[in-house]
Amino acid sequence: MGIWDKFVVLEGLDGSGTTTQLDKLVAHCQENGIPCYRTFEPSDGFIGRACRDVLEKRETAETLTLAQLFAADRREHLKQIRSKLEEGCWVFCDRYLFSSLAYQSLNIDFETVLDLNKDYPAPGSCFYVECSVETSAARRGGRDSVDLYEKEALQRKVAQNYEKAFAAFYPSDTEKSINPSGQLYRIDGESSVEDVFDSIRSILKL
Ligand code: TYD
Repeated sequence: MGIWDKFVVLEGLDGSGTTTQLDKLVAHCQENGIPCYRTFEPSDGFIGRACRDVLEKRETAETLTLAQLFAADRREHLKQIRSKLEEGCWVFCDRYLFSSLAYQSLNIDFETVLDLNKDYPAPGSCFYVECSVETSAARRGGRDSVDLYEKEALQRKVAQNYEKAFAAFYPSDTEKSINPSGQLYRIDGESSVEDVFDSIRSILKL
């Protein structure tokens, strides 16, 4: 077993339910005495907080600067992740470099974002909780309804970028993979919270 095998990442559109699934995974591990560590990106470290300041419009930054901040936050965060993995914990992470590829490449070149992230390890398992743009919008609760169409159009592009990211990291021809370890699992996010959870738990054999 490699060090990154127990590194599990959940990805999805805003409102796809990754946070709910992480709550359930952690509760399940705790109930069963399985050591685990829950985390998220952007992290709560100082660079991650800078990312949130930009995302939440308390600060402004060039789009390339933001992409660099996400990548720098990841570099620091990975030290924390690695040390938890070395302790033997499962590490469950809400979003990872696939989010950078999906979101930052809305504004800058996909290859540029890829280049910023190409040296980072692939997680042992990446779960892409797939749900339609309409469902994820409904789950976000119709906030900012004035911008809803615009937001839906944006999420549609994010979904397309996720596909480009997965094609780069998990090509059918593994020789061409940026990092040939790890596995991508597509989970049907339209099904119930329990069904999604059961799929993830059974794939991880937890
Ligand atoms: P967050 O409050 O965690 O929302 P969610 O519950 O939807 O994950 O916000 C994370 C936001 O940050 C989300 O809109 C995606 C964005 N993001 C990026 O743009 N690039 C990245 O590399 C990461 C990790 C997140």
